[in-house]
Amino acid sequence: MKIFLDTANLDEIRKAAETGIIDGVTTNPSLVAKEGRDFRDLIKEICDIVQRPVSAEVISTETEGMIREAMELSGISEHIVVKIPMTREGIRAIKELSGKGVKTNCTLIFNPLQALAAAKAGATYVSPFVGRLDDIGHDGMLLVKTIVEIFRNYNFSTQIIVASARHPLHVLQAALSGAHIVTVPYKIFDQFFNHPLTDIGLERFLKDWEKLHV
Ligand code: E4P
Repeated sequence: MKIFLDTANLDEIRKAAETGIIDGVTTNPSLVAKEGRDFRDLIKEICDIVQRPVSAEVISTETEGMIREAMELSGISEHIVVKIPMTREGIRAIKELSGKGVKTNCTLIFNPLQALAAAKAGATYVSPFVGRLDDIGHDGMLLVKTIVEIFRNYNFSTQIIVASARHPLHVLQAALSGAHIVTVPYKIFDQFFNHPLTDIGLERFLKDWEKLHV
């Protein structure tokens, strides 16, 4: 199970990377806009810190523009994965980019057939958005499970990134579903380490240890 960090914030990325358990980073235009930095400089810095796959999204909505941006972005670092939205134009771009060996992450996936189309086009990753589906009363994790089943049935090598995670339970469900990756905001990553019984247990161990030395 790979864990990606879903942020463009360098402090968060550095802190998470220090733990040694981060396998990549995903960004999107909204996350990048929050940082108020030059896009390319920021993405380069993220790649230098993480040294693993970093998703950077195109802004064009037409195939030719997406391909042009993708080629520019993939020149920034060997770690770049070009994020392409799930549209008819996006699928055409993914097909062409996969032929050129450019890694792609097909984003904004909300139904299983969108994932199937992206896999057939040769996407390296697909990103089903579980939280945004849950937000409107749908079952986001059911989408993930269905994609896992389809990809297994036909041995697609496309990896599934569970995206738009809202809480630790999404991470647990992602791990149980057989998805390859979950991408999490820093707040959720931080919650991985905490349990009140761990704190209580550690305090008790240390107190008992002190008794040995009195
Ligand atoms: C990741 O690839 C997505 O951009 C991200 O998880 C979206 O999350 P949100 O629905 O919380 O904006």
